[in-house]
Amino acid sequence: MTDAQDWQDAPVRRVAVKATQPKRRGAIVIGASTGIGAELVRQLARQGYTVGAVARREELLLALQEEMKLEPGRVVPLAQDVTDTESIPAAFESLAREVESVELFIYSAGIMPDVGPQEYDTAKDLAQIEVNLAGAMAWCNQAARLFLSQRSGTLVGIGSIAGDRGRKGNPAYHATKAGFATYLESLRNRLSEVGVHVLTIKPGGVHTPMTAHLDKLPMAISADRAAATIIGAAQRRFWNTRYVPLRWWAVALVIKSIPSFLFKRMTI
Ligand SMILES: NC(=O)c1ccc[n+]([C@@H]2O[C@H](COP(=O)([O-])OP(=O)(O)OC[C@H]3O[C@@H](n4cnc5c(N)ncnc54)[C@H](OP(=O)(O)O)[C@@H]3O)[C@@H](O)[C@H]2O)c1
Repeated sequence: MTDAQDWQDAPVRRVAVKATQPKRRGAIVIGASTGIGAELVRQLARQGYTVGAVARREELLLALQEEMKLEPGRVVPLAQDVTDTESIPAAFESLAREVESVELFIYSAGIMPDVGPQEYDTAKDLAQIEVNLAGAMAWCNQAARLFLSQRSGTLVGIGSIAGDRGRKGNPAYHATKAGFATYLESLRNRLSEVGVHVLTIKPGGVHTPMTAHLDKLPMAISADRAAATIIGAAQRRFWNTRYVPLRWWAVALVIKSIPSFLFKRMTI
């Protein structure tokens, strides 16, 4: 028998070749034009996600889309004002259709106007409720419905360490962040049993346009470091609440344990 026949008679080894279709991953970020939200979009696009990016300033979203066009993922911009809660269900539906396979939703939109120590301005307070809380609930409700129907997904809300205690600075900001954290806790308690993870993020100081005018921002970190920590925590699905960076957890523990009779005399 020749070598060639040898080869022909040998049993055929079947090698199973799996179709290696890359898994589609979709994410939606609300408040995506600047700061932490824009960094979240960049890092998710670099990881290959298709990212729905929502904010009012469309020109910034389009610039972000252009900036990310050579990355493995892509950016789908959508101009929307979160205070227009009636338009949110349709906006979510069209974005989810275009992004496909939405597995991650992050609400990062927020405002924190300057409020003087003697100022009691209802218009400023209501504006913060509209963006930080009402808009947050309206968008997160849509994500909750989708994830409930999928029985999977990770829903992330960017709260703040400012929600842990009612400090003197900006009463409405503290209240909206506390309210958002409580709302997210309720979503978590409802949705965890169907496999949906709800993560509350509590950053300390982060260098972004929101804080650019502040003289002091103790222990502040960059927006890209904050975004990397947030994405890592979202993907790990371990934390229910994650302080960013983690050292704020210890600070919060101390702040929360100070009794009111002392806290009201403090300047923090
Ligand atoms: N920076 C910090 O130190 C810090 C600390 C703790 C928590 N946070 C929280 O982190 C989140 C992100 O803040 P940031 O620091 O990244 O601030 P930022 O750079 O000012 O970003 C805020 C984002 O919210 C969007 N937004 C505001 N009002 C909106 C509206 N009516 N409709 C749609 N989008 C709206 C803005 O987009 P448009 O203006 O284009 O609409 C922008 O994309 C906020 O929830 C903030 O409270 C920040």
